[in-house]
Amino acid sequence: MKTNQITFKVAKVSDSSAKAFGIAVASEGALAKEVGMTRDQLTALGFEGKLGQTLVLPNSKKQLTIAVGIGEAAKADEDVMRTAAAALARAASNVSSLTTTLASAGRGDRTAIAQAVTEGLILATHRYNDLKTDKKATSKLISVLIVAPAAMSTAITKGVKRGETIAEAVCFARDLANMPPAHLTAKMIADRALKVGAESDIAVEVFNKDQLLAMGCGGMIGVNRGSVNPPRMVKISYQPGGLKTAAKLSAKKSSAKSKTKLPHLILVGKGVMYDSGGISLKPSNSDHAMMKADMSGAAAVLATMSTLKKLGCKNQVTAYMMCTDNLPSGSAMAMGDVLTMRNGKTVEIHNTDAEGRLVLADGLSLAAELKPDAIVDIATLTGACLRALGPQMSGVLGNNQPFVDQVVAAAKSTDEQTWQLPLERKYRSLIDSYIADMKNVGGPDAGAITAALFLDEFTSGTPWAHLDIAGPMWSDSDAGWLQRGATAYGTRLLISLAENFKTP
Ligand code: BES
Ligand code: MN
Ligand code: ZN
Repeated sequence: MKTNQITFKVAKVSDSSAKAFGIAVASEGALAKEVGMTRDQLTALGFEGKLGQTLVLPNSKKQLTIAVGIGEAAKADEDVMRTAAAALARAASNVSSLTTTLASAGRGDRTAIAQAVTEGLILATHRYNDLKTDKKATSKLISVLIVAPAAMSTAITKGVKRGETIAEAVCFARDLANMPPAHLTAKMIADRALKVGAESDIAVEVFNKDQLLAMGCGGMIGVNRGSVNPPRMVKISYQPGGLKTAAKLSAKKSSAKSKTKLPHLILVGKGVMYDSGGISLKPSNSDHAMMKADMSGAAAVLATMSTLKKLGCKNQVTAYMMCTDNLPSGSAMAMGDVLTMRNGKTVEIHNTDAEGRLVLADGLSLAAELKPDAIVDIATLTGACLRALGPQMSGVLGNNQPFVDQVVAAAKSTDEQTWQLPLERKYRSLIDSYIADMKNVGGPDAGAITAALFLDEFTSGTPWAHLDIAGPMWSDSDAGWLQRGATAYGTRLLISLAENFKTP
């Protein structure tokens, strides 16, 4: 698995050896100098400088010049520049090297702009092609020279580095989610997490089926019952300063209740490696074919954790990946079965396809036991959320408005959109069971909300937010910085949340 294929360099001057030169269309002066044309001439060629528009022109050095529209220059923030960079990368997909001034265009913090440009270039060219014999559809772009005016070069260099780290993580999560069920079982993703741990100075512990049984994780065991592949729960711990500091801290734990306790955030990811629905078997349509990506939450969580050391995250972050597939068989969980979950609550199964909440329940219980300052879970949880909000945004629900606000802010700052839905307690009765503490489904109405109300039963009142990513987990086409297939939505959002997290 090779993720990002582009090598980046930042140079204070333009390098004439580059084969293509992408420039942002902002001012008339730049047009005349870099493109060698006036705006009128470009307009005559149909290029108006609209965001995402590109025009490829030959230049005097027998290279290509690519004009990239950034729209109204005054509005060219990180989101705009990420989108423009993605358009440039698509236009340059037939050349191997590119020089661009894009990182010095746009408005706002220069590091943030350079980061966004780098993200756009990488995300729009990445493709999971391990299983293609012919790699033709892949972008040829392998080297990018970012031109930086001297005064901006420190900020731009920093942004490019951050962008590379973050986009690399997104590509990694996309690859995991695009992998077919047989290519990535629960055990395999856990092994992958161990490898990431060794590379990223984070502690990774893997729990197998016997351990999950012993821990009373009835949700994980119940969902896994139909599968020949055993489940895995992966716990990942990041401590600023790395593993050595973490070891020292835990040795000192009993002494001096440290006043310097860092804000502690826990991420919980749904890792359903393949969701067939189980006994409540899904029909064989394209939605079902997408269910290899039902571990997109866990992938986003793992990818996020892989970046924290490199980015110098100042908060303590712990993660749980709840990994198993959901399959029908003679041993599978049946309708009417009652599971006893990690926190002791009992759940009557009314639809084996509502499995995500069962594995998340155990993850949330384990997270709450650590008494963190907040928990966020991320899950491809309900078709209802996809119906309500479509593929462009996730739904967010939670029990603590200041923390939900932090999640919404992280979504805004990364252009991974979200929309808050109400955690309406009046709907709690929809998941009442006459035999157990609750049912695992609430009927046809307000499906995203009843799913969240179910999850809330396992948070023990810890500030918590739930991201339902059933909509944006998948893209049907190559568009902007998205590529067809699994999107790894939430990776950049969670990284931003982890970096900026404050105890709510
Ligand atoms: N993984 C699915 C939800 C899903 C659907 C994600 C479409 C992405 C795209 C989840 O496990 C599921 O099957 N949910 C059911 C719940 C229902 C049975 C209450 C659903 O939404 O239909
Ligand atoms: Mn399901
Ligand atoms: Zn599912």
